[in-house]
Amino acid sequence: MFGKKKTVSQIDKEQLELIKTAQKRIRQKKRLYIHFVIFLIGAVFLILANTVLGIGKDFQIFKIDWFVFAIGLWLFFFIYHLFNVFVTHKFMGKDWEEKQLAKLVNKQKDKIEELKTTYLKDAQTDVISKANKDLVTQVKQNKKTDSEITIIVAAGEDNAIGKDNDLIWHLSDDLKRFKSLTEGHHIIMGRKTFESFPKPLPKRTHIVISRQEGYKVPDDVIVVNSIEDALDAAHKDKSPYIIGGGEIYKQAMDIATKIELTRVHATFENADTFFPEIDPLLWKVVKKVPHDNDENHKFAFTFYTYERI
Ligand SMILES: NC(=O)c1ccc[n+]([C@@H]2O[C@H](COP(=O)([O-])OP(=O)(O)OC[C@H]3O[C@@H](n4cnc5c(N)ncnc54)[C@H](OP(=O)(O)O)[C@@H]3O)[C@@H](O)[C@H]2O)c1
Repeated sequence: MFGKKKTVSQIDKEQLELIKTAQKRIRQKKRLYIHFVIFLIGAVFLILANTVLGIGKDFQIFKIDWFVFAIGLWLFFFIYHLFNVFVTHKFMGKDWEEKQLAKLVNKQKDKIEELKTTYLKDAQTDVISKANKDLVTQVKQNKKTDSEITIIVAAGEDNAIGKDNDLIWHLSDDLKRFKSLTEGHHIIMGRKTFESFPKPLPKRTHIVISRQEGYKVPDDVIVVNSIEDALDAAHKDKSPYIIGGGEIYKQAMDIATKIELTRVHATFENADTFFPEIDPLLWKVVKKVPHDNDENHKFAFTFYTYERI
């Protein structure tokens, strides 16, 4: 009903190759054997031709009968044949050639891969650093100002920055530094960070980013709907600070020109908010100030200042 089942050959390609090679080797050995027999008969014939039939009886080289040289020469060809069959064809036959070729091709492939990786890495670094420079230029040109946009953050070794809409640690020298850097400037923050303060921080202009229409804030606090609007609102300030939290940091990484990072030397397993990774291809440390732990500081930390490469 469904037609005859096709018979599938049980001999696969590899087996066929092996059979072919075996047949070839048998032919080579057969030819060698025939050569050997002919050589023996030929040698006897040459000896008889000279000694019995007297052919070239007077012809000698270095007082040795000519047939000795003839047999010697033939023996040399026979040994050469023997060598071909058992050495050249056995170890340096087609298989050997193919293996050598495959080795060479693989070596070339590895080299090409290596070159590709190096080239791509270089090209990628060039493109990223160019894009990065263009971006900074563009941000600066767009704002028609040479202002420096600084992210300021304190993060654990695991980039933890907060839990339950609050900070995880209290480090008074870090807070002092935050105060001294940001006072007199515009501070840009997400709505949740703003709500984490008991009241607005003194001597700073607060810009709060929220998607909510009519979000209620004290009189001197500015509410905007995007980071771009926040930067517009801060255009008179040559050094506005982006102060968090996690969502805003993530969006500000492409816009900022500087990062003031306090790296807290501990990890915080129950944190729920994190700072994004700082890409070493895009940022370089220009200043580093370590701070030990003591009775006022539960954790040791380091102040890092990063600038765009
Ligand atoms: N360690 C530090 O240095 C540091 C600094 C600051 C904050 N923190 C911590 O970070 C945590 C808060 O961070 P978070 O990530 O949860 O919140 P967040 O970034 O402070 O605020 C998120 C809110 O911002 C608004 N928003 C975000 N992107 C927006 C956009 N593109 N356009 C308009 N509005 C936008 C939304 O407000 P709406 O929901 O109102 O639309 C969103 O819910 C807290 O634990 C805080 O203590 C730590």
